Amino acid sequence: EKGGYEHFMIKEIYEQPKAVRETMSGRLAKDDSHIIFDELKWTPEEVAGINKIAIVACGTAYHAGIVGKYYLENLARIPVEVDVASEFRYRSPLVDDKTLVIVISQSGETLDTLAGLKEAKRLGARTLAITNVVGSSIAREADHVIYTWAGPEIAVASTKAYTTQLVTLCMLSIYVAALRETLAAAKVKELIQGLRDLPAQAHEILEDVEPIKTFAQQYGFNEDVFFIGRALDYCVALEGSLKLKEISYIHAEAYAAGELKHGTLALIIEGVPVIALATQPDVYEKMLSNIKEVKARDAVVIGIAMKGDDHIRNYVDHAIYIPDAHKYLAPLLAVIPLQLLAYYAAITRGCDVDKPRNLAKSVTVE
Ligand code: F6R
Repeated sequence: EKGGYEHFMIKEIYEQPKAVRETMSGRLAKDDSHIIFDELKWTPEEVAGINKIAIVACGTAYHAGIVGKYYLENLARIPVEVDVASEFRYRSPLVDDKTLVIVISQSGETLDTLAGLKEAKRLGARTLAITNVVGSSIAREADHVIYTWAGPEIAVASTKAYTTQLVTLCMLSIYVAALRETLAAAKVKELIQGLRDLPAQAHEILEDVEPIKTFAQQYGFNEDVFFIGRALDYCVALEGSLKLKEISYIHAEAYAAGELKHGTLALIIEGVPVIALATQPDVYEKMLSNIKEVKARDAVVIGIAMKGDDHIRNYVDHAIYIPDAHKYLAPLLAVIPLQLLAYYAAITRGCDVDKPRNLAKSVTVE
């Protein structure tokens, strides 16, 4: 059932090109002019009635939600707040019939997320579930459902669910942007073409995992690792850090790179590995300054950058490249080396990759 792979996690990492293709299947117009969501069929009037979006999820799905905020705000120009479900439920959220609440859950069974969805409905919100499991509790409870079609995810550490959630959120944002007329046709086309490139680009990363593997073997016994990034790279940093913690038990922290000097920089000392994501052109120079900051403290810096960025080699100890993607879609690719890093670090340390200690695949308790 593992199809020749040693663990479900690595199988699912390698399934990402296919999973992402499935998520997009039938949803991209042939001429790349628009997104098709037969399951929504929203009208401009309906969408005009929404003045705020709240995204509610847990763990990795929450990390996808933060990327979703970025997409929806930038593309569709609607204010979005993102909460972890266990906080949302108890904080009297400002949600009413003009709010769209999006819950994201791979399993569709996470108790806090389900409870958040019920609370949103009680407050009169319209609700949309993004989930991977057909007929799950969350799918049944929500007004609308978009399935991610990633195929079953067995490993406790979520991988292909995350990338397919990101694709879904990107498509949803383009879809809502069209209804609100906030995105020029040329930009829509560029993004949809970028989406079409993703499966092959993800495949390209998976064809050469040696640099990451070597790095994981070399640093797998360190006790602390830091992930830094700005903008979308920060969202990916959060997910990379969670992956490393949960399966390799290495203490990891993700920081918005500009925040380091407000406290955490005190922990950066000689030899501490810092994974620095630098895929976002708008904040690239700022990111380089942050890389210099940690290098000045003798950290070991691994830069994750877009292919063609030779410049970064002057600042980092090791550079790992992802294919040159649309900047909004870079997270989908940048996360893959981080998933692999977590996987190979866990192997190096002899951890039970598919069943990490203390964790369950589906969290149906509070
Ligand atoms: C981390 C992980 C968890 C889940 C979280 C939500 O790798 O898998 O953080 O993302 O428990 O699960 P779902 O998406 O099923 O609601």
